[in-house]
Amino acid sequence: MPVSGVPPTTFLSSQSPMSYYAHHVFFCCNQRDGERVCCNDKGASKLRDYAKQRVKELELAGKGRVRVNQAGCLDRCEEGPCIVVYPEETWYTYVDEHDIDEIVEEHLRHGRVVERLKI
Ligand code: FES
Repeated sequence: MPVSGVPPTTFLSSQSPMSYYAHHVFFCCNQRDGERVCCNDKGASKLRDYAKQRVKELELAGKGRVRVNQAGCLDRCEEGPCIVVYPEETWYTYVDEHDIDEIVEEHLRHGRVVERLKI
């Protein structure tokens, strides 16, 4: 039920406890047959594995820190491969390990959005 005079998102954010993870990353790894493009055709699973490895190596993983999860189709297939980082709701695309390194180092480690990879 809406609270009079308080926008719903303001109410929710002011009432929510701190996020379990500082950054929760969802990698679309959807594989589909057919004509529509999918993220896994562009190396999503391999680069998700790479991101998880880097997050662990940098000791960023765990409660209060970073979690990398696989996701199904996020319905931005033509813009992908794509990931989304919460709670910031920042969407990225990437091409290779260099892009993943930049997202991990800048966004996940230092909280700085990587503007050049945003979608
Ligand atoms: S297949 Fe990745 S967003 Fe749809």
